[in-house]
Amino acid sequence: MDGNGRWARQRRLPRVIGHQRGVEAVRRLVRAVRHMGLEALTLYAFSTENWRRPEDEIAALMGLLKRFILSDLDEFAANGVRLRIIGDYKAFAPDVVELIEQALARTAGNSGTTLAVALNYGAQDEIARAATRAAAKGPITAETIAAELDTAELPPLDLLIRTSGEVRLSNFLLWQAAYAELWFTEVLWPDFAPAHLEEALAAFAARERRYGGR
Ligand code: FPP
Repeated sequence: MDGNGRWARQRRLPRVIGHQRGVEAVRRLVRAVRHMGLEALTLYAFSTENWRRPEDEIAALMGLLKRFILSDLDEFAANGVRLRIIGDYKAFAPDVVELIEQALARTAGNSGTTLAVALNYGAQDEIARAATRAAAKGPITAETIAAELDTAELPPLDLLIRTSGEVRLSNFLLWQAAYAELWFTEVLWPDFAPAHLEEALAAFAARERRYGGR
């Protein structure tokens, strides 16, 4: 969800306003995907590298996350959305962890769209944690690692979208992206609308996926 800062800077607004508008984009998108028949949507909300940001920005992001759960959980619960977290969210402050765990428990029985949120997530960290767990259980293979990834219960990654014109993966779902289709757009995250997702999905549908075969 890249580009919140630039969106704000272009308007001479504080960065946190860009993040606020970013949350509104999340809300619009989650509402829309429920009707698009997507099985799962994974959002990169806080990376293992985001701890390097100024303390006040980190605090603002945590505040936005808490407020988002408090304001939107009822709607998710009522609409069959199942929340999942990838990443080591237990490193967050106890009040945030508690809210997250309440939200997970409350939506665990839902069977509609899965909304996975990446929190304190970094793909290299995820792979290292998964490999450690796999090694403790037996031989390491691609399958035994995959079974220990934070995404083990999510469907395979089909399409990975990066907003704001950056053309890199920035430690997001590196393992899972092995055969994913990639879509890069100049649109800044706060401006990313359901129509932009539909555009990416239409391009995805037109691609031929061969998974190394022919
Ligand atoms: C990247 O923009 C965005 C983030 C680091 C945070 C994304 C978080 C949210 C939208 C809010 C919390 C999430 C949820 C699910 C409620 P940037 O600041 O790197 O933008 P820039 O590259 O333009 O500076």
